[in-house]
Amino acid sequence: MSNLFRSRLAKEFDDRTARFHTSMVEDLRIFEEDIDGTEAHDIMLHKQGVIPLEALKLILSALEEIRREWRRGEVEVGAEFEDIHEYIEARVIEKIGMEAGGMIHTGRSRNDQVMVDVRLRVREDLLEVAEGVLSLVEALLGQAERHVETLMMLYTHGQHAQVGTFAHYLTAYADALLRDHQRLLECYDRVNRNPLGAGPVGGTSINIDRERTTELLGFDGIVENSIDATSGRDWAVEAAAVCAILMSSLSRAAADLIEWSTKEFGYVELADEYASSSSIMPQKKNPSTLELIRGKAGEIYGALTELMTMVKGVPSGYYQDLQGTKPPLWRCLDTVKTCLEVMTGIIATLKVKEARMREMTEGSLTAAVDLAESLVENASLSFREAYRLVAALVRETLKKDAKLQDLTPDAIAEASLKVLGKRVEVDAALIREATDPWSSLLRRKSQGSPNPEEVRRMLKERKRRLEECRAELEARRASVKASKRRLRETVEGYLSK
Ligand code: ARG
Repeated sequence: MSNLFRSRLAKEFDDRTARFHTSMVEDLRIFEEDIDGTEAHDIMLHKQGVIPLEALKLILSALEEIRREWRRGEVEVGAEFEDIHEYIEARVIEKIGMEAGGMIHTGRSRNDQVMVDVRLRVREDLLEVAEGVLSLVEALLGQAERHVETLMMLYTHGQHAQVGTFAHYLTAYADALLRDHQRLLECYDRVNRNPLGAGPVGGTSINIDRERTTELLGFDGIVENSIDATSGRDWAVEAAAVCAILMSSLSRAAADLIEWSTKEFGYVELADEYASSSSIMPQKKNPSTLELIRGKAGEIYGALTELMTMVKGVPSGYYQDLQGTKPPLWRCLDTVKTCLEVMTGIIATLKVKEARMREMTEGSLTAAVDLAESLVENASLSFREAYRLVAALVRETLKKDAKLQDLTPDAIAEASLKVLGKRVEVDAALIREATDPWSSLLRRKSQGSPNPEEVRRMLKERKRRLEECRAELEARRASVKASKRRLRETVEGYLSK
């Protein structure tokens, strides 16, 4: 029953070429989508007077039989078919004969057909990725709520920069992920468009109704231009790009947590179920799941590069090159989903070593910024004057192997006379306040800072945003679900006529 599409040719593919040419393996992922697309197309053709009722009923019952065979795991296909489209059409013809079965592909090409299938599938995948993103955001916000007052060093260039909190750190990634969610849904809205009816590249003379299939398949509208509909892959590249951007954040967070799991930092410890050990070093506890997430960011960038490279030289219209866009896309979506799930578990179960984090903020030279800012406010110095004065004090402190906390008002007065040519008078309380990590944090109240009040406000706001995102996601999911039900009911309606 194979060789549906080779009437023009005198010879078959040899086995090796057939294996080389087929897209059957990657097409298994769009098996049911291909059935749905065909059902919608043929129901539309019937409405348009192209397929008679009796033939439509035969076609739909054959398609439903094939769906059942698939769900029961009875379908065994290989390189004897070019792709899933050939298999399903051949199987329908095998079941009901060429007269009726031969109608299913009227006014359609595999070029618009495959785009329907992939778009139907990718829209579901995007919703799953978006759901995974929101679960991770929830885990981040949950951990953050427990650590609003957990002091933690903030770094730039890997050096002590300012005192922050662990909650503030976690919220930064929640914010990035909420943007990823937005990108995913925006991409979804471009993916969820109907290319069916574009024909091979330039439409069809058959009296089709593109709005009808759009409605039956739950698309939000059509991809109008028939060249664009069959030939464009920008939306697939965009889906991979959104995944790649998302992975760039996951990978950086993984890099932080891997570093913070070292003995040298000792800020966090992964739960045992997310760690591995060593075949030889019995003492080892490795954050290898995070290492894999960081590594998989490379895999996703690879998939994006593969897709972009694959399409960049292909002239307009369908070329077989485009068949190769499916595997990197599937790989991309699957890997991102898994990474999100694992990361969510890691964050939710992470052991946070608060005492060690706090310890690293005590006696740190980061108090220098706070002291300089305090001098601006309380000693009427310009910022650059204060900066110079504090830099001199830092040098002195380092020379004496002391701490900024040990500074006295006298030392400041003396140094200021030397550096600025004027005596700066401050009291001991100012020094104490500026150099104590906790009170310095409380003084830093700028919007978006790690100040606990500010972080509490941000957390509340993010939780509200999370609920909004859930609703936006749910609306799309509900509309997909409703369209599937509509298609099912329509099919059943015809079958019971
Ligand atoms: N198997 C093909 C793909 O995956 C389907 C479209 C083929 N069209 C064609 N004219 N050969 O892209």
